Order: sequence, then C-alpha cells, then structure tokens
Amino acid sequence: MLIDSHCHLQDRKFGEDMADVIGRATESGVTAMVTIGYDMPSSRRAIEIADAHENVYATVGVHPHDAKTLTTSDGEELARLAESPKVVAIGEIGLDFFRNLSPREDQYLAFREQLAVARAVNLPVVIHSRDADEEVYEVLAEHAEELGAPEDRLIGVMHCYPGDLPQSLRYIRLGFAISIAGPVTYAKSNVTRAVAGAVPLTSMTVETDAPYLPPQRVRGQRNEPANVRDVAEFVAQLRGTPYETVAEETAKTTSRLFGLTTSVAERAGGAR
Ligand code: NI
Repeated sequence: MLIDSHCHLQDRKFGEDMADVIGRATESGVTAMVTIGYDMPSSRRAIEIADAHENVYATVGVHPHDAKTLTTSDGEELARLAESPKVVAIGEIGLDFFRNLSPREDQYLAFREQLAVARAVNLPVVIHSRDADEEVYEVLAEHAEELGAPEDRLIGVMHCYPGDLPQSLRYIRLGFAISIAGPVTYAKSNVTRAVAGAVPLTSMTVETDAPYLPPQRVRGQRNEPANVRDVAEFVAQLRGTPYETVAEETAKTTSRLFGLTTSVAERAGGAR
C-alpha cells in the first residue's frame, strides 16, 4: 500500500496523458491518489476524475490564493459537492500570507466559512499554511474545539507542512496529520527532514502535490503521483525503517484520515 494523499490531477499540465499518469502511479505501487480542489471549477473537475478512476478520490475547496472569489452560493455548492461519494475532505483551504494573492480579510472569511462547511458535512480538512502559522493554528484550534473530536480521531492534514518539529507536534495534538512532500528530498530541507524523521507514522501522510514540487530526482520536471514513492523512500532512509513500513503506515494514516479504510484495503487485497 502507498497513497499519494495530495495531488492535482485536474491541473492543466495533466489531461492529455492522465490515463498514463494514473497507470504509472499504479505501476510504481500507488494504491490510491487524492486529487485536491483549489477553486470551484477544479473541485467539480476533481469529482469527475475520481468518478472515472476507481483508485482516485477527490476533495473540494477554495485555496487561500482564490479566497477573494468565494461567494455565499459557492459555500452552498461546496456542501452539495461534498455529498458526492468519492469526496473525502474539504480543501485545500487555509491562509497564505507569503504571496497574499487574496486580501487577508478575504482569506480569513473563506477559511472560516469552509471549516464550517467541513463541520456541517462531517469531513476532515486539507490545510495550506504559508507564513501564517500562528494565525492558522488559532483558527484550527477553534475548529477542533467546535468539533470536540475524540483524541484518536484525525480531523485534518497539514499539507506540505513547512513548520518545525515543535510546531508539527502542536498540530498533531489538535488532531491533524503532517504531510511530507517532495521538498524533503532537497539538500537544504533540514527542518522538514527533522520533522519527517521524528513524527509518528500514525500521524504522517506522504504526498506529491503534483504537478508541483517534484522530488530531487526529477527536479525541474512536471511532478506526478508515481513520484510519491521517492518521498516514502526518502522518509524510510531518514528513519532507518524499511520502505514497506513507511509506505504501509502512511497509507493507513491516510485511509484513517479520509475514511478510505474499507475500499482501499479491499483493493490492496485484490489479486493483481
Ligand atoms: Ni496542493
């Protein structure tokens, strides 16, 4: 088992060869992929792709970059889209004070509104956080409190999380998983390496963020879900753990987070 917990198959850079991309992922051992929405059109498209491919799941949400575009009717549509059987989370949502492509007030509004949708439809959340760690933490702490979730339940994931180990552990205590992406393989990623080496696998997922963030081996190229193997292999090396353990344990965490347990386990157990 190996799951790419975060990719964007609906990106323009895929399309022509999407079937090949999904085929290569399967060949490299990827048992499931979660294609992540970032605005309304990409959320609708994520569902279409998931409906067409058995091992692809979808999330729906509006990224902080596009927060200024979110309308009240979009919030209602997100709640409707979330009912679709292959939709496993709301995201990616959050705050990005690095690029500030939407005004901060709009980012806050969109973030809070979509967390409310997630609570209403009882789905976990996929979080994008950049240069806004304290602010994101505060909002998510409120969300966790509103949920009053039991301690062993995962309520979301910090996607390609750039924070350090103490910051990561703080999110884990709130009920979040920490997701490790391709940049862990870059020479200068000491902080992320420390996180990937220490966070319990029961709170860790791996991802590509394809077509973005290619791992070192394919740096400069379009990234794709097959390359999540590079991430899992690198994490295994860092931890001195067999690759199979990291692949299997992070897949279990992802399944638990997104509620894939039954369907993915059945598929992995199937003869092929
Ligand atoms: Ni992403």
